[in-house]
Amino acid sequence: LKTVSVALGERSYEIAIGSDILGELGEALGRIGAGPKEMIVSTRRLWQPYGAAAQDSLMKSGFHVSVALIDDDEESKSLATVTSIYDKLVENELDRSSGIVAVGGGVIGDLTGFAAATFMRGIRFIQVPTTLLAQVDSSVGGKTGVNHPRGKNLVGAFHQPTLVWADVSTLRTLPQRELRSGQAEVIKYGVIADAGLFQMLQNDTRPFSRWENENLIEIVSRCCSIKARIVQEDERESGIRSILNYGHTVGHALETLSGYRYYTHGEAVAVGMAASARISHALGIAGEETVRAQESMLIDAGLPTRIDRPLSSRDIMQQLNRDKKTLAGHTRWVLPKNIGDVFVTDRVPPEVVEQTLQDMITPERMTA
Ligand code: NAD
Ligand code: GLY
Repeated sequence: LKTVSVALGERSYEIAIGSDILGELGEALGRIGAGPKEMIVSTRRLWQPYGAAAQDSLMKSGFHVSVALIDDDEESKSLATVTSIYDKLVENELDRSSGIVAVGGGVIGDLTGFAAATFMRGIRFIQVPTTLLAQVDSSVGGKTGVNHPRGKNLVGAFHQPTLVWADVSTLRTLPQRELRSGQAEVIKYGVIADAGLFQMLQNDTRPFSRWENENLIEIVSRCCSIKARIVQEDERESGIRSILNYGHTVGHALETLSGYRYYTHGEAVAVGMAASARISHALGIAGEETVRAQESMLIDAGLPTRIDRPLSSRDIMQQLNRDKKTLAGHTRWVLPKNIGDVFVTDRVPPEVVEQTLQDMITPERMTA
């Protein structure tokens, strides 16, 4: 078991990363003084074996456990679903000393975290992430929330978990496409902050499905350490934390415009990273080798780097203006200088963005 600490004063917590550790969750909750009432929020398809294993473990440690099973598609990441969680919390008489345990991917984690942030003005919650994306990113850092029809994650709250319990053996049942989505966020960490990680991924080109548990534990903890360091420095995203949004500017626009039908979150982020690198190159900042290194890694991972769906650059431009990363008409961009080094700017001329998007839709103009 590896642990990474997130030091945030009284909101500090540990991220535990291991394999086959769901059976020890109850003891871990006991150690942090949780209970006696806990509610597990998960989804039907993950109940056997993960939700049920978490429930067994909690019950063995003496907790009273209730369960809420919800849908976890992106359209269900809504206030209506949060309300259904409140209903279960009230029905089962959870109170301010109680906690909620999210067992699932980023959708379950974001919804559960938001319910925990708002029920009785805030109760404890534990993240048990079961996708690679949730283990390396969404379960850490306290961003919780839901989508609005006009934009992704438009409604939310910062609410840190009290424990993150990441079991990499749950990734064995994850569909390949979802594993690849998580890989996009792993590559993101390499580009924004860790050239060594990027190099490691370049040296080991096996698909993640063939990585042993020890390698996965290593990767997840390395990504979590980067995220912990950034969140410690800037919990509420008034500065450095925004580099974690690398690839998300275009990524969110693609997701929202297509009603979440064309790309998974990780795939949309991959296209967004490709766009950001090309924009940086067009502005004379990133060298062609940086753009190519990132693009080949994304392609090798089976991720998209082109906009190969029926979306126009005009529509994407309009959607960018509606994003919450757009302030006073200026879209905020995270752009790479080199692998491992990015910067944030809101001074990218819209025509450069539109031309880049156009190039990514129509036959590319870069000599790749
Ligand atoms: P997801 O939660 O939609 O899960 C993907 C699919 O995999 C779902 O169908 C789920 O049921 C299934 N699944 C989950 N674990 C499984 C397992 N072990 N075996 C088999 N199937 C499994 O997707 P995700 O990629 O985990 O999360 C994406 C969401 O996370 C988006 O809504 C995104 O906005 C959010 N996100 C939040 C943050 C944050 O900081 N809060 C960061 C990144 C992404
Ligand atoms: N996923 C972006 C963040 O947590 O800040």
